[in-house]
Amino acid sequence: MIPAGELYLLKRSELRESHTLKVARKDGAYSALESILEEKRDPAEVTLVVKNSGLRGRGGAGFPTGLKWTFMPDPEKDTRRRYLAVNADESEPGTCKDRVLMRDDPHCLIEGCLIAAYAMRLEAVYIYVRGEYRLPYDRLQAAIDEARAANLIGDNILGKGFSCEIHMHKGAGAYICGEETGLMESLEGKRGHPRPKPPFPAGFGLWGQPTTVNNVESIFNVPFIINRGADWFRSMGTEASPGNFLCGISGHVRRPGVYEVPLGINAKTILDEYAGGVWKGRSLKAWIPGGSSTGLLPAELIDTPMDHDSIKGTGSMFGTGAMIILDETACTVRASKVIARFYDHESCGQCSQCREGTQWLSEIFSRIEDGHGTMQDIDNLERLSRNMAPGKTICALADAAAIPTLAVIKHFREELEAHVKQGCCPIKTRQESEVLA
Ligand SMILES: Cc1cc2nc3c(=O)[nH]c(=O)nc-3n(C[C@H](O)[C@H](O)[C@H](O)COP(=O)(O)O)c2cc1C
Ligand code: SF4
Repeated sequence: MIPAGELYLLKRSELRESHTLKVARKDGAYSALESILEEKRDPAEVTLVVKNSGLRGRGGAGFPTGLKWTFMPDPEKDTRRRYLAVNADESEPGTCKDRVLMRDDPHCLIEGCLIAAYAMRLEAVYIYVRGEYRLPYDRLQAAIDEARAANLIGDNILGKGFSCEIHMHKGAGAYICGEETGLMESLEGKRGHPRPKPPFPAGFGLWGQPTTVNNVESIFNVPFIINRGADWFRSMGTEASPGNFLCGISGHVRRPGVYEVPLGINAKTILDEYAGGVWKGRSLKAWIPGGSSTGLLPAELIDTPMDHDSIKGTGSMFGTGAMIILDETACTVRASKVIARFYDHESCGQCSQCREGTQWLSEIFSRIEDGHGTMQDIDNLERLSRNMAPGKTICALADAAAIPTLAVIKHFREELEAHVKQGCCPIKTRQESEVLA
């Protein structure tokens, strides 16, 4: 086992009843908020600490959190109401980290929301939670109620003149509502159709007011950064991607789970040392670094550091840092079919490239997997994907379907061609003949 380094994101969750205010307070919850209020710190200076920490958003794009906060207009000049929307929709296949944070340490998320609200000088936070996350939702709601009763949420918090409300909203099972503008539409009570950008949320967000959208894990990091400083945060991870992150690892591994690791840790180390290696003594065939939209990589690339720049160097993306492992018996065409079907199902249908493209990708992968595909189908998959992405549609869902398609063609073209040539799935056939032998 490699030295785990300092754990902070999951540390409190090791305590019994860590989700309650009593336990969390005893463990230091709300101390960062208290110090800010006590010292009457300048909100711009609080934002600067987050900016200097180099924290990058954990929702998928890796955009610097502190920098995003500075996009909010100056409240002296723009007197509209302003909001923070916390993205807890977590629906990208493979991703399950925010669920753990909300379930086991909801008060840390609340504290992060309040500090973000103070820094951006806003009075209301909306947390949009994936509908299926019943326990995390209930725990977070109970924590909000407890915090409100303790004068940590609401008017004149702790008697220090700062006021902030936090509201919860339950999603209804649509992946597209995790896209930040789809999320805002949904919060407004409308169908979760992403909005064309610009205008960006900081200028025209919820109900047309300035809004910042941040992922749960991004906000969760904030109290630690305020308490311990930007230099402490930068002492972990890499220069361009500081801090720890929560790696959810699933698929063909011995110990699937959510592990706290420093950014820049080798993907092979996460697989072998944390997740116990590929299950059943089998070897690795392929892996996904950051959720289904980041696509399959071949086993040879498992020695890659898990940080934004290194994963980008493989042609993929760090995404949400959610690794999915496929062992030697897996069929990459079947895996691609499952992924394509998901994006086809979740497309909102506004953009023709996405609406039609995702359906075609799903149909073609199914056809190839069933053994009825042609070589032309493989070329069509590539042509379609290039016409869908990048940046050709209102939101990045089309990219999320195109990127894995291009990745499987790049790294596993032989397996696609073998399906066409043999008129069946060669892997399934090999397994069946081994069973019969
Ligand atoms: C189709 C789609 C689905 C998304 N789903 C999520 C999600 O479930 N959770 C999330 O935090 N970000 C999701 N995102 C990214 C958000 O649009 C946004 O970038 C993110 O919430 C910003 O937070 P961050 O800067 O803290 O990472 C999604 C993006 C797309 C295009
Ligand atoms: S890219 Fe797809 S999901 Fe996104 S707005 Fe267009 S049709 Fe909807």
